[in-house]
Amino acid sequence: MQNRDKFTTSLGVLTATLGSAVGLGNIWKFPYFTGQYGGAAFIVIYLICVVLAGIPVMVSEFVIGRRANSNPVGAFKKLAPGSAWYLIGYSGIAASFLIMLFYTSVAGWVYSYIFRALGGTFINTSPETTVGVFGKLITSYYEPIVWQIIVLIVVSSIIIAGVQKGIERMTKTLMPILFVLLLLCDIRALTLPGAQKGIEFLFKPDFVKLNREVIIIALGLAFFKLSVGMGTMVTYGSYFDNRQNLPATAIKVALSDILVSMMAGLAIFPAVFAFGFEPDAGPGLLFITIPMVFSKMPLGNILLTIFFLLTAIAATTAMMSLLEVPVAYLVEEKGFSRPTATIMSAVTIALLGSTASLSADAGSLLGTVKIFGKTFFDLYDYISSNILMPVGGLFTVLFIVWILGKKSLALELSNNGQLNNKGVVNLFYTVVKYITPLLIIIIFLDSIGILKF
Ligand code: TRP
Repeated sequence: MQNRDKFTTSLGVLTATLGSAVGLGNIWKFPYFTGQYGGAAFIVIYLICVVLAGIPVMVSEFVIGRRANSNPVGAFKKLAPGSAWYLIGYSGIAASFLIMLFYTSVAGWVYSYIFRALGGTFINTSPETTVGVFGKLITSYYEPIVWQIIVLIVVSSIIIAGVQKGIERMTKTLMPILFVLLLLCDIRALTLPGAQKGIEFLFKPDFVKLNREVIIIALGLAFFKLSVGMGTMVTYGSYFDNRQNLPATAIKVALSDILVSMMAGLAIFPAVFAFGFEPDAGPGLLFITIPMVFSKMPLGNILLTIFFLLTAIAATTAMMSLLEVPVAYLVEEKGFSRPTATIMSAVTIALLGSTASLSADAGSLLGTVKIFGKTFFDLYDYISSNILMPVGGLFTVLFIVWILGKKSLALELSNNGQLNNKGVVNLFYTVVKYITPLLIIIIFLDSIGILKF
């Protein structure tokens, strides 16, 4: 295990981790949840969940990964030999797979929209056209699957190249590009006449719209956004060297992630309001409303292409971190070579993932097949986001407090005493001991209906 591939620079650590956090969550889920659940009020609740649950779980995962220097299954086996804690690692691998099944499908739509926008499909478009284009794509029996496979080929090639030559190098290049492209979209949107209303929508909280459901959704989004609760950050943490300041890294990543989400909101909502559309279009916001909105502005088609390109970048760097979880496991625990492990995982995702692609809409081939009342597509999302991630996050913080213990935690957070951060350690310990678990338990029991508030 001596020659484990690692991130070589602090910048690489940051771009790789941020690359995992920034994804469809920022550009697709965050804006449409904000639109549906009341704008700034939702964002406030979301921020509270990030601070009290998202960041603490992320730091805990870094601690476990770096201390064990191993994939999630191996990490728990190493730190708690002879116990059943390694099952959290398996739950993480299962969750990565489930998320990849539908994530690659949505990413495939995004890839295809780059070419549609580039080819001029949405120039002077009408609502009927945009609805029709999206409907035709997601109900096709083969097109979404073809794109899903293309997505998997792209992501796999990067993963095969390795942690340093693949993940670190690609995210160092792509994250700055993403940022600049997003800035371009922001400048355009904010200089539109009537942009004011969209800005108010994002920044003026209206707490009347809040209810219990919103809080559950905000916690789920905080986990999903920060890629925590399923071993991704254990895996990435295991590629950090001993100089990285773990709490500082988590806070930087969380802040930048929120910045990107807000920038995505600022690219979308001013334009939505300026052209008289509704902010609460739901999942269709990205694929139906956005092409409509952009087609109404000067140079809209170029901007739309840029917008989908940056979304594709965000989704691709996030998928790298998802695929890395099973790959690290197969290489380290099962002895496969990195290319074999990657190809095995990708082929499995392609085969099972086609059920997500073929059930995304009621009119899709498998769109009417229901399991526990949900389509395949929704089921994968539900099990991973609403069950495996909160449970995984809960057990991760329980592990830190009750198994790893405060002494080892203090050593890991202070880089073996090199950092003088006793205050941070104490604060962190108190939060993960009392607040984070309580918050997750209450929200989780409420969401699965065992406890009602
Ligand atoms: N955070 C990514 C997003 O916002 C998705 C993601 C990547 C993820 N890796 C993850 C979610 C691990 C949960 C767990 O789109």
